[in-house]
Amino acid sequence: MKTILAIDMGNSYISIFKKNFGIVLKEPNLIAVSGSNSNYKIIAYGNEAKKLQGKTSENIVIFTPISEGEVKSKEYLSSLLKHFLDKLNISKFSKIKALVTIPCGITDEAKEAYRKACFMAGIDEVNLLPSVIAGAIGSGKNIKGEETTFIASLGGGVTDVAVINLNSILKGGTLAVGGRALDISIASAIADRSKVLIGVASAEKVKEEIGSLFENDTLNIEISGNNLTSKMPENVIIFSKDIRDKVAEYVDNFLKLIETTLNLCPPEISSDIAQNGLILIGGGAKLVGLSEYISKVIKMPCTVSDSPENATILGAGKLLSDEQNLNTILNNVGS
Ligand SMILES: Nc1ncnc2c1ncn2[C@@H]1O[C@H](COP(=O)(O)OP(=O)(O)OP(=O)(O)O)[C@@H](O)[C@H]1O
Ligand SMILES: [Mg+2]
Repeated sequence: MKTILAIDMGNSYISIFKKNFGIVLKEPNLIAVSGSNSNYKIIAYGNEAKKLQGKTSENIVIFTPISEGEVKSKEYLSSLLKHFLDKLNISKFSKIKALVTIPCGITDEAKEAYRKACFMAGIDEVNLLPSVIAGAIGSGKNIKGEETTFIASLGGGVTDVAVINLNSILKGGTLAVGGRALDISIASAIADRSKVLIGVASAEKVKEEIGSLFENDTLNIEISGNNLTSKMPENVIIFSKDIRDKVAEYVDNFLKLIETTLNLCPPEISSDIAQNGLILIGGGAKLVGLSEYISKVIKMPCTVSDSPENATILGAGKLLSDEQNLNTILNNVGS
């Protein structure tokens, strides 16, 4: 008996797709740990750990075992993964085979850390696949032929850009920064402007609800934090324009990666790309006004995938049912 899964090992979320079923789990890539490193105890995983963010005493640390695309702790990542797998009620007699999506452009050593964590969690067979490949398939792109797909993923911890054709990555690049770094700079902008300190989870909420690249957006949100001087709780109203510079800085950084990748492409490919444009995946693609802002700068069409935050796991899940194609892709870009 074999259970076949696809797992998107994201910096912000871990998603699991069961072959012929669909997405069976999606939870934050977070654990809450109490005690010291030599004597630690995991007290919450995933959704439960997220609920505790900003609400615990100093001897409880909440963190993600993957940061900026790299596994920081195989032990914690495997415990988290094992906890998630246990929730799926997989028979203990069943072997588990998983197609695991990871950032592109990471070292062989970094890849081994993902593989090892999967084995430690009880997965018997592991294939690693760059998440942009799965994301392109999940966005409905046919990557088998010579037609080029130009795709960018704006995740929580990494930003990937790739030019894909013939089931392979022709050119690609990665930035070890993502939406989480933007949350931190939003929190610091609010502290500077309003003299109120907010937590990273609140800053993420601000970004998701009012982050916008439109100049005149009037979206706003009331958020609570601590007054920097009195340390007393205080509510502040934040407008889109208050954080727009930080949002634009994050996107401009990513645009540099797009430009570098485009500059590496041979002319035939560039004209193909100019015609087809860029497709955006990842949670960061949901920023209001993003595709308009990008297409103005790169002077080509830019579209956001349907359900950008799930494109990778849906594409990986789809590949599970297309074994022949999956094997070809794994031969080209998998490990
Ligand atoms: N509406 C939104 N506007 C801006 N950012 C958003 C929005 N919704 C989600 N995000 C951000 O998207 C990021 C998570 O995206 P995603 O789930 O694609 O990441 P991931 O796959 O876990 O991480 P990575 O791809 O870096 O490994 C988080 O930083 C989250 O704050
Ligand atoms: Mg991702």
